[in-house]
Parts: sequence; structure tokens; C-alpha cells
Amino acid sequence: MRKNIVAGNWKMNNDLAASKKLANQVAKLVKKNKVKGTKVIIAPTFVNLERVAKATKKSKVKVAAQNMHFAESGAFTGEISPKMLKSIGVKTVILGHSERREYFGEDDALLAKKVDAALENKMDVIFCFGEVLEDRKSGKQEHVVESQIKNALFHLEAKAFDSIVLAYEPVWAIGTGETASPEQAQDMHAFIRKTVANKYGDEVANEVSILYGGSCKPGNAQEIFSKPDVDGGLIGGAALNAEDFLAIVTAF
Ligand code: 13P
Repeated sequence: MRKNIVAGNWKMNNDLAASKKLANQVAKLVKKNKVKGTKVIIAPTFVNLERVAKATKKSKVKVAAQNMHFAESGAFTGEISPKMLKSIGVKTVILGHSERREYFGEDDALLAKKVDAALENKMDVIFCFGEVLEDRKSGKQEHVVESQIKNALFHLEAKAFDSIVLAYEPVWAIGTGETASPEQAQDMHAFIRKTVANKYGDEVANEVSILYGGSCKPGNAQEIFSKPDVDGGLIGGAALNAEDFLAIVTAF
């Protein structure tokens, strides 16, 4: 079902003490501000997931992993399986982040397998995609986004979209301080919804949540979130400060 969602992707930041502290601060602020109608998710690094999940268990804050392998177990040194995540109570995973694509060579075919594994394990997926600056400069952004979505998701049945959240993250706006304008975000989100509608029909398209990510901060969240096809944000840098993150959570 379409929901407002704000998810904090902590990336490779925060040791154990800092993770627990930030998680507790976020949980406290969410409670104090009586946040309602917006799902709040935080995604710490793997090593701190279990402790953060424990620290937020009694709160409304949910925890997600930043990545996952597709296999259940086996000789994949350094990797983490869906089953392992579920065993510590983590039921949501971010897949396809541009940093995974760029620095770790994750491509659409691999991501399709990861998405399948997550769904087989009854996990929810925040699926990320977005164009690089060159694509935008040459007007190819829609083509790129469409193929990323098609190649990783369009083998799925419509029902799978109950467990999928889409996250549009233009690579040129990630960590750069440069944000897509609210109009650019809206245009792309409307295009994404139309792409889903063309394949699965209006009902599926209208029910899927589409998040924006890329230098989203307290100062611009409200305007971006006010756009009709923007259902929230995937937040990097600003999610590392509890007050900033809360300001974004309450920006709707
Ligand atoms: P920033 O908010 O730091 O630009 O990062 C966005 C992001 O990559 C979230 O996944």
C-alpha cells in the first residue's frame, strides 16, 4: 500500500556506540513528536544491525539492511544472506544503491536475483536506481531509469509490488549538496509511475511508494515531499543527525 516513508541510509558510518546513540535519539524524537502516518526506517551497517534493531524494538522506527546476498548460505566470503537478516529481526533491505552499482559492480541481472531472494524470504525491498550526470546532460535520464527498473523488476508478478518501494536517487545529487529540483523529482516520479502502470496497470502503479534520494535535507524536504508522486525520501548525510532526520520525517 502506498505510504509516506522516510528512510535513513547510514552507509558506512557510525561505530557501535554511535549507532546505538543515534538510533535511540531517533526513536525518542519520533515518539516525542508523535510521528503518525509516516513510516520511519533506519539502515545501519551490518555489524550494528542487531543492536540497533534491539534498541528500536519498542519504538515505531524500523530497521533495514543496506545490502544482501541472494543465496541462503554457502561459500560467499564476506556476504550476508536473507536468512541471517531475518534471524535478527530485519525484514527490509535496500537493494541497488548507486554506490553498490558503482563501487561493487552490481548490475541489473544480479539485482534481479537479490530482489527475488528478498521476496522469497518475505522481506520488503527498497529498490534504488537513478541516472548519472552524463545521462541527464544528454537527456537520457528516463531511458536509463526505465531500463534499470525493467531489468531488475519487470520479471515479477504484480503482487510482488506489495513488498517493493522504489527509490529514485539521481547519482549526481547523492552527497554532492546538489538536489534535484522539486519539479525534476516530480517529473521523474511521474514517469516512474507511468512505467509501472504500462506494465502492471494503474492500480499497482498508484499503490507503489516512490521515494526521492539525493541531498535531501530539512531545508528542501518539504517542497520535494509536497509533489504528488513523491512519497518520501531515502536520506544519506542528513540521516546521521537525529534532529535533521526528524525534521525530514515531519516535513510532510
Ligand atoms: P545524501 O542524502 O547524502 O545525498 O545520500 C543519499 C543517498 O544515497 C541515500 O541512499
